[in-house]
Amino acid sequence: MPLVTTKEMFEKSMKEHFAIGAFNINNMEFIQAITEAANEAKSPVILQVSSSAIKYAGIKYLIKMVEAAVEQTDIPIALHLDHGPDFETCKMCIDNGFTSVMIDGSKYDFEENVAITKKVVEYAHEHGVVVEAELGKLAGIEDDVNVSDDDARYTDPEQAKEFVERTGCDSLAIAIGTSHGAYKFKGEAKLRFDILAKVKELIPNTPIVLHGASSVIPKLVDMCNENGGNIPGAKGCPNEMLKQAGEEGVSKINVDTDLRLAMTAQIRRVFNEEPSVFDPRKYLGAAREEIKATVADKINNVFCSNGKA
Ligand code: G3H
Ligand code: 13P
Ligand code: ZN
Repeated sequence: MPLVTTKEMFEKSMKEHFAIGAFNINNMEFIQAITEAANEAKSPVILQVSSSAIKYAGIKYLIKMVEAAVEQTDIPIALHLDHGPDFETCKMCIDNGFTSVMIDGSKYDFEENVAITKKVVEYAHEHGVVVEAELGKLAGIEDDVNVSDDDARYTDPEQAKEFVERTGCDSLAIAIGTSHGAYKFKGEAKLRFDILAKVKELIPNTPIVLHGASSVIPKLVDMCNENGGNIPGAKGCPNEMLKQAGEEGVSKINVDTDLRLAMTAQIRRVFNEEPSVFDPRKYLGAAREEIKATVADKINNVFCSNGKA
């Protein structure tokens, strides 16, 4: 099956109340691990690429590797630009065969966000590509954008309705308390499910996206720290909350940090336990297995997208 847009998978997710994992990719091991896990679980999946990933790996390399994964699997796979910073980056991805792009105008004021999003939507739709937009700022670090805790604000549901109507975007990322990275909550984890419910009431047909949704898996943090790492006090979004989010109207759940932890934990473990190893396939192979297990667990036990391909 060729690359698909997110249209049909989101329609199914809204009808059947499950979420689709959107996993960030940076190299071959991530692509193989994610698509193999999704294929075995018969789950749709979104592979997403940030502008920093494009800088790192090169757009052509990423696309060719994704095409290879698509050829070897039999599930709906969408290729998505994560946190597109401007029109030009979105256009480059659309012109190169991405099926979905995010324009992240959350750093702008409302009117500017509407304007840039509309511009991307117009170009994307002319080319059969769907657009994710963002309204509301997540605490923490976004791609090239720093949002301090004080600045963090939740999405206003009424504004979300106006934003979707005026921009024609296909899906909307909202801020309900998650944040990017490995340090999401100072105290107890809390998500504003009341805001999610209000958003779904006002725009029931718009797929909702949750960024910053890694659970910062304690086992992986420990494995990093026990093998020379230094990630003290990391804390993510509990799985029960993510499961609830999927059941209550979130269609796309973004995960990057957990996969970074999976890769780093295994590489550290191999380096620490087997100092004589210098064959990269040994530690990258172990890393790939850990990423695959991490993705499989999310698909099967948290997002519940297994069997939905
Ligand atoms: O939300 C941002 C993603 O985690 C991508 O991060 O820009 O370091 O690739 P990155
Ligand atoms: P995490 O940092 O929680 O994995 O979030 C990733 C993300 O939102 C990518 O857009
Ligand atoms: Zn994000």
